[in-house]
Amino acid sequence: MHSYDVVVVGAGAAGLFCAGIAGQRGLKVLLIDHADKVAEKIRISGGGRCNFTNRDVGPANFLSGNPHYCRSALARYTPAHFIELVQRHGIAFHEKHRGQLFCDDSAEQIIRMLLAECGAGGVERWQPCSVAAVRQRGEGGFELDTQRGTVHAAKVVVATGGLPVPKIGATDWGLRLAKQFGHRIAEPRPALVPLTFDPNAWAPFAALAGLSLEVNIETGEGKKNTTRFLEDLLFTHRGLSGPGVLQISSFWQPGTPIRIALAAPALADTLRQAKGRTQRKFGNELAQHLPERLAQTWLAVHDLPADKPMPDVRDKDIARLVESLTRWTVQPMGTEGWRKAEVMAGGVDTRDLDSQTMASRLTPGLHFIGEVVDVTGWLGGYNFQWAWASAAACAQGL
Ligand code: FDA
Repeated sequence: MHSYDVVVVGAGAAGLFCAGIAGQRGLKVLLIDHADKVAEKIRISGGGRCNFTNRDVGPANFLSGNPHYCRSALARYTPAHFIELVQRHGIAFHEKHRGQLFCDDSAEQIIRMLLAECGAGGVERWQPCSVAAVRQRGEGGFELDTQRGTVHAAKVVVATGGLPVPKIGATDWGLRLAKQFGHRIAEPRPALVPLTFDPNAWAPFAALAGLSLEVNIETGEGKKNTTRFLEDLLFTHRGLSGPGVLQISSFWQPGTPIRIALAAPALADTLRQAKGRTQRKFGNELAQHLPERLAQTWLAVHDLPADKPMPDVRDKDIARLVESLTRWTVQPMGTEGWRKAEVMAGGVDTRDLDSQTMASRLTPGLHFIGEVVDVTGWLGGYNFQWAWASAAACAQGL
C-alpha cells in the first residue's frame, strides 16, 4: 500500500498551497483531486486575472459562526507574505480598487506558481482521481480508498472547497466527510451571489438591465445588526448584481428587505433650486444627476411627470422622488444559487476545529482548510487570502 505523511484532498487554492508548504517542510505529500483540470476556480477568478489577495485583510472582512476563528491564521500568514511569494515568482500585479490585487496578465500565473511550489516540495499529485472512502486505522492514521488504490496517510487535509459552480467540480464531499467524523456543519448557503426578484414585481425595472451605478446598500434591522456597503450595483434582467449586491447577499436573510440609496438626500435641494434656474423638463433635469435610463424609468415607475418643465414641478413631487431614490426598499425572492455564487457561507463548524492548526478536535490527524470551513470572506480577494492563510497554518502544524 502507498504510504504518505499527508494526503491533501482537493487541489484548489488551499490544497495546492498547503501541499507545497508541507512538502517543502520535508513531509511526503500526496495531493488528490477528482477534476480533470487543476485549480479551475483560480483560473476563472477575478475575471481571469485572479484577485489573489487584498492589501487590507482582517477578521472583520469575514463571516463565521465564530468571528475570532480566522484571527490567528490571518495574523500569521498576511497579504504581505503572499505578495512576497508572487513577486519572487516574477508575477506582475496591480491594485484595482480598495486594496484588491490582480495579476496583470492571467490567473494561470498563480496556478503555475502554486504547482512550482508543490514541485519544490516533491508533492505527488493524482488528478483526476476520486476518493471513495476514508477510514481511521486502529494503529493510527487513515486509509483512503481512491480510484488508483488504497493509500495510507498519517494525516488527511480536506481542501475540497465550497458548493458554488458544480459544473467545474464543486462537491459536498468535504462536508459529508466532516459529518462522518462527527463534525457539526453550519448550514451552507450561496454567498457573494446575485439576488432575484418576483418577475412581476421586477418587470418595470427589467428595462434597466446592464445599468450600473455606485450606491449605498444595506440590510439588517437595528444599528448593531445592519450591514452597509458603498459599492456599485448592477441591474440585471432578473434582479440585482454588481459588487455592492454580491457583498450584501452574504448578509441578507431570506424574507427580509434590502435598502438602497440610488441618490443622496441633497438631490432634493438641487432639484428645488433648479426650478428657478431652468426650463428643462423634470426627466431631463433628473438625468443631469442620475444615468438617463434610470431617471426616465424611475419617474415612470413612480408616476411622476417626466415631461413637466422644472418651474411647474411641485415640491411634494420632488420630495416623493428623492424619498424613493434614497430609501429604495426591495424584498428579494431569492438568489441565483450555487450556479452563480462565488463562495459558500457556512461549512464545517469552527467549534470543532483548532484555530492554530485547522485540526479536528474530534479526530486527531484530520484537518479542514479553505472554503469548506465556516469562514467566508467579503468580495475583494479575502477568500483567497483565507485559503492561503488557513493552508499555511495547517501546513506548519502537520
Ligand atoms: P477550491 O474550490 O479552490 O478547490 C477545491 C478543490 O477540491 C477543487 O479543485 C475541486 O475539484 C476539488 N474537489 C471537490 N470535491 C472533490 C472530491 N470529492 N474529490 C476530490 N477533489 C474534490 N476569491 C477571491 O479571493 N478573489 C477572486 O477574484 C475570486 N473570484 C471568484 C470567481 C468565481 C467565479 C468564483 C466561483 C469564486 C471566486 N473566488 C474568488 C472564490 C475563490 O475561488 C474560493 O474561495 C477559493 O478558490 C477557495 O479555495 P479552496 O481551495 O477552499 O477551494
